[in-house]
Amino acid sequence: MKQFTTLAIETSCDDTSVAIVKSDGSFFTVEKIVAYSQIDDHQKYGGVVPEIASRKHSEKIIEVLQTIWWDAISKVDCICLTTHPWLPGSLVIGKATATMLSEYFNKPLIPVNHIDGHIFSLFIERDINKIQFPIAILTASWWHNDLYFLDKDEKILTKNQDSSDLLIHEVAGYTIVKLGNTIDDASGEAFDKVSRMLGGPYPGGPWISQMANKFISWTSYSSQKWILKNFWTWKFFKRIRVDKESFNFSFSWVKSQVHNLLTKLKKENIVLTDEIKITIAYEFQESVVDVLTTKLLNIASTYDIQTIAICGWVSANTRLRENIQHAVSNNYKILKPIKNIYSTDNAAMIGVVGLLKYINSL
Ligand code: KG4
Ligand code: ZN
Repeated sequence: MKQFTTLAIETSCDDTSVAIVKSDGSFFTVEKIVAYSQIDDHQKYGGVVPEIASRKHSEKIIEVLQTIWWDAISKVDCICLTTHPWLPGSLVIGKATATMLSEYFNKPLIPVNHIDGHIFSLFIERDINKIQFPIAILTASWWHNDLYFLDKDEKILTKNQDSSDLLIHEVAGYTIVKLGNTIDDASGEAFDKVSRMLGGPYPGGPWISQMANKFISWTSYSSQKWILKNFWTWKFFKRIRVDKESFNFSFSWVKSQVHNLLTKLKKENIVLTDEIKITIAYEFQESVVDVLTTKLLNIASTYDIQTIAICGWVSANTRLRENIQHAVSNNYKILKPIKNIYSTDNAAMIGVVGLLKYINSL
């Protein structure tokens, strides 16, 4: 079977990433992936600063590209790049670089939507023919938090119900329907903000997760007693209400609860000890994981979907993975990106979408 190869470039946020991806149309191999992560450059600001992001992309893009042999670039079938959505000043660096390479090597340029990249990151190093469609997909990240339906053709949603209000688009013969999104903060953003409130680092997800794990591993009676006595009596944390009608999310509410609790503690001159931070991190994470799991499974049961999937960097959260696993019966197949690097913002996922489009257009 003929193999096609692409060079992919991703610069939509704070990762300068390039990759060489190869495929026969049903199996995608990542031959090379290189990324410069800007986390250290943004850490002291507690989040991504757009101006710094675009400057860093322009400083690093050539350095990152130089790790790929010029000869390898000259042999690709097409060049793919993230064109939208997200930070315009960052996207433009990827666009200028990809356009220059496409003109120099005379290769077609394939534009790719970043969120489509996360959705199709599920295809990397997996035989597409063995995936059972349709799939209910949660994409959870710092700035996006959506629910999608993915099918090989327009099978269920358009056949069985009024689809006039649905956001539907097509990628290389696949139908993608957006069923829900966040109406305020995305889950990743909430993890980052709560981490900051508790004096943790950016990005906050991995840190909150580690803190929450400490809570889970507390077994001594005295710790449990301490928690009960000091915390639950304040009735501090209400879980996010899971509104079953809607597939949309709202995470600013849970973030505000943490803020209100911390304000209350301050007023009462209560020192923010590690025990308190660990307990808050645990409760916050449980609340977010609960709502992400419930809404994803609601989609699966509403549309009778047997394959559910999670992608985007928040999907690397161990508790979320465990919770989904526990919540579903064995009839369900759960997909997640095969390696953690494919959950983050990466060029390989952009290469997959670009190659699908390229092969489909032949
Ligand atoms: O996909 P990503 O790199 O960026 C966007 O496309 O937005 O996601 C970054 C987000 C950050 O907010 C980070 O705190 C969160 O993913 N994150 C996590 C975990 N690892 C990263 N959130 C929860 N648990 C984790 N283990
Ligand atoms: Zn992303």
